[in-house]
Amino acid sequence: MSEVITVHVAADPIDATVADSGYDVHVGRGLLDRLADFIPLRGGTPDMFAIVGDRTTDALFGDRAEAALRPVAPCVRIAFDGGEEHKSLDSLGHILESMASAHLTRKSVVVALGGGIVGDVAGFAAAAYMRGVRCVQVPTTLVAAVDSSVGGKTAINLAAGKNLAGAFHQPSAVIIDADTLKALDDYRIADGVAEALKHGILRSRELFDSVASGHACEPETIAENVRIKAAVVAEDARENGVRKILNLGHTFGHAIEKCSNFEVSHGHAVAAGVCMASRAARVMGKLSDADCAAIVSGVASCGLPTTTDLKRAALVEAMLSDKKRAGGSVDFILPIRIGEVVIERTPVEDIPRMLDIALDL
Ligand SMILES: NC(=O)c1ccc[n+]([C@@H]2O[C@H](COP(=O)([O-])OP(=O)(O)OC[C@H]3O[C@@H](n4cnc5c(N)ncnc54)[C@H](O)[C@@H]3O)[C@@H](O)[C@H]2O)c1
Ligand SMILES: [Zn+2]
Repeated sequence: MSEVITVHVAADPIDATVADSGYDVHVGRGLLDRLADFIPLRGGTPDMFAIVGDRTTDALFGDRAEAALRPVAPCVRIAFDGGEEHKSLDSLGHILESMASAHLTRKSVVVALGGGIVGDVAGFAAAAYMRGVRCVQVPTTLVAAVDSSVGGKTAINLAAGKNLAGAFHQPSAVIIDADTLKALDDYRIADGVAEALKHGILRSRELFDSVASGHACEPETIAENVRIKAAVVAEDARENGVRKILNLGHTFGHAIEKCSNFEVSHGHAVAAGVCMASRAARVMGKLSDADCAAIVSGVASCGLPTTTDLKRAALVEAMLSDKKRAGGSVDFILPIRIGEVVIERTPVEDIPRMLDIALDL
């Protein structure tokens, strides 16, 4: 039987829904058929599981998940349509109503089986059902494995914007079967690779090099991403300070997503954003030419974009309306070497200049 790597994530000191001992993230191969081995019994043996997926993940993995969990407790399967447009109140309502019809109780456990959308919507349903039931995340995309399944953020989109309603609800456990990632196409893998490269630039040159050389989907590499994200989140569970560094490349990235009418996916936009932040840092004398070049070539070698040809004026406008703007300034995260970043508070009026140096204009 292949090795399982377990990373412990410290409890969020503010979030009352987390047991005080935190939770474990298990990474390995073939874990989907062994889910029962990793279901935490803290909070009591589950009396029922709600296995929530989108239609794709339910079809791909639902039967195996159910077969693995049925010996522990009865399972109800809940599937909703995939896609960002279904990360919605309707899907949330469908999940909650299905949970109630199946008579789930406070002792039941939601199993979020899918990508980041499933994790966010099912996690929010778990936070809301009977004022909060346990949730086990079983991420099946690289994005979900290295990013969204850890940290406890759950959300749905509203008409006014993405992720506008949600809750902090830490999982009881995260179970990552690297074999499930084999069914993903290259474009989706690249989306997760972008976030993994980002984690490397934040805290670990070794991780950056490993991801850039094609090892992103290996259990040890995934586990290292989880360690970094968990460490950053533990240092700042409510996004007041250090957690902001996870937004490396995201201020530029969000502008690219928006200006492309979301034709450029989040990960691809973030990859370009990371390179733009690196270029800006180099022009400002914070990052060496060599590290900047290594970042850009690492991103390119993963098949990700390193810049954008969208119109500068539209990008400036999008950045000015970015929701993370606070009191007339924007916090840019800038690399100072591969493995370390700084937060650069930038007055709104300096944004156009920041964009110019980021685009090398
Ligand atoms: N909560 C957080 O901290 C956080 C962090 C990052 C992203 N997110 C959210 O995550 C979402 C994006 O997540 P995503 O990129 O995983 O998208 P996704 O959940 O839409 O998954 C992408 C597609 O891949 C399919 N899929 C999933 N697993 C598969 C597999 N193993 N094989 C084949 N196909 C598979 C899905 O059905 C879907 O069509 C966004 O809504 C974003 O806001 C949340
Ligand atoms: Zn991101």
